[in-house]
Amino acid sequence: MSTFTIDSSTSRATPSPVPGKRMTVPALRGRKAGGTTAEPIVMLTAYTMRMAQLLDPHCDMLLVGDSLGQVIYGLPSTVPVTTEMMCAHGAAVVRGSWHALVGVDMPFGSYEGSPDQAFASASRILKETGWAAVKLEGGEAMAPTTRFLTERGIPVIGHVGLTPQAVNMLGGYGARGRSEAEAEKIAGDARAVADAGAFCMVVEGVLEDIAVRVTGDVAVPVIGIGASASCDGQVLVTEDMLGLFERTPRFVKRYDDFAARVGEAAKAYADEVRGRSFPTAEQTYRAK
Ligand code: KIV
Repeated sequence: MSTFTIDSSTSRATPSPVPGKRMTVPALRGRKAGGTTAEPIVMLTAYTMRMAQLLDPHCDMLLVGDSLGQVIYGLPSTVPVTTEMMCAHGAAVVRGSWHALVGVDMPFGSYEGSPDQAFASASRILKETGWAAVKLEGGEAMAPTTRFLTERGIPVIGHVGLTPQAVNMLGGYGARGRSEAEAEKIAGDARAVADAGAFCMVVEGVLEDIAVRVTGDVAVPVIGIGASASCDGQVLVTEDMLGLFERTPRFVKRYDDFAARVGEAAKAYADEVRGRSFPTAEQTYRAK
């Protein structure tokens, strides 16, 4: 069950839709032509309606990342994230956006079993969110699944390099590709995912020369995170970029100090409540 339109009579859900068309998969794919992307692709994560509204005018793509496991739900990794969570947050982001192409992560355990399992999960995500491409982690091993989905009308975003759903195998979130064999594997993964029909891919947490190589190797846009400025686009977790967490990975640039500002606002409110200076007459109903 999902609604795709915003009831503008509800006070907090009133975006001002701009005339125009949502970014399409072919338009996004077409941003890379002749091996180069003139204007880099801008992608941020979004998990809620309101954040989607705020980010949408500035982004080509919004990613409903399974990083919501840690960011929203306080889980230790993305592994426990469920399809229900992705559908609920995906639908909220679709409702809060009108311009960006929305991608939704397929959570761990929802697609690796077989192409049939992946199709069942991906089609559910598309039905319940209303408008989305799906992102799935993995290279060569996921190429048959990527082909199966794309041939059946489901746009796929690949994800190679550091694949956080495999943290239990990897033993941590360190940058990948430090050995020659690992670098070759990542390059091969990227080619396999592109050849299987992914319309773009995320390359996460790799040494810069691997990101440069992969970006040059594949025809589809490569969106980097902890990768290289030479990628065809960049993605960050919005809450990291806003400075909501004390600890952020090295590849994150903080564009704000949101945690401090939320703390200051909460303290000002608490002080006023305790001092009985909030609410004032301005915020109080009186008989006319
Ligand atoms: O889950 C996520 O937010 C992601 C991005 C970091 C690419 O996969």
